[in-house]
Amino acid sequence: MTTDTHPGRLRVLVLGASVRRHSANARLATLTSQLVSDAGATVDLATLRDFDMPLYDGDVEEADGLPHGALALHDRLDRSDAFIIASPEYNASVPGVLKNAIDWVSRFRPQPFKTKHALLVSASPSLVGGNRGLWALRIPLEHLGTRVYPDMFSLAASHQAFAEDGRLADAGLQERLAETVAGFLSLVEADVRYVCLERRWYEFLGDRTEAEVTQRAEK
Ligand code: FNR
Repeated sequence: MTTDTHPGRLRVLVLGASVRRHSANARLATLTSQLVSDAGATVDLATLRDFDMPLYDGDVEEADGLPHGALALHDRLDRSDAFIIASPEYNASVPGVLKNAIDWVSRFRPQPFKTKHALLVSASPSLVGGNRGLWALRIPLEHLGTRVYPDMFSLAASHQAFAEDGRLADAGLQERLAETVAGFLSLVEADVRYVCLERRWYEFLGDRTEAEVTQRAEK
């Protein structure tokens, strides 16, 4: 039996994961958000610049709680059905600033990444387009229970890839990005509107307590 649990428009947070002013990933986030909007979903476009937070420190958390930037990012995530991250690759991995934000936000209970779908995209001036960074980014997100879409999109030679109107100069690449976004949104829509699976999980592997915060079930 299917249930229409969410009749409104899908809400998608699109996060540019660079704090640089002229970030190629911010441009890719803007283009991606346009595609999300064209598909009929409501977009919340953000950049990590919007969420200032210190380096994670357990003593700071214990003394002061979670920083404002982490609270704000949590709230934006919480209001979304799904999120898209456009991230640079630093040294073949996840930029520290993004991992730091994920670490802070993962301290919330209930842990907000658990119930979301995510699409990962990247841009880099290199020939691989930052794709190795996305594989690394899957690890913390999948660990946290995010359902990370199997297809990803990596834009190589990003310094010369954008046309003046913000679309990709290569029509084939533009189409591929649009198809990836459309496929992702179809999956999110199917899951959000027609929930038919019961989800059950342990927040932390090996945790055998009966505490509500570590065991949640959804129908
Ligand atoms: C990079 N860059 C980079 N690029 C890449 O394709 N593979 C890599 O491993 C790295 N490593 C790396 C490390 C560090 C510390 C910096 C600062 C940069 C280059 C990076 O992809 C390029 O600067 C992008 O333009 C950064 O993304 P934004 O800020 O333009 O979105």
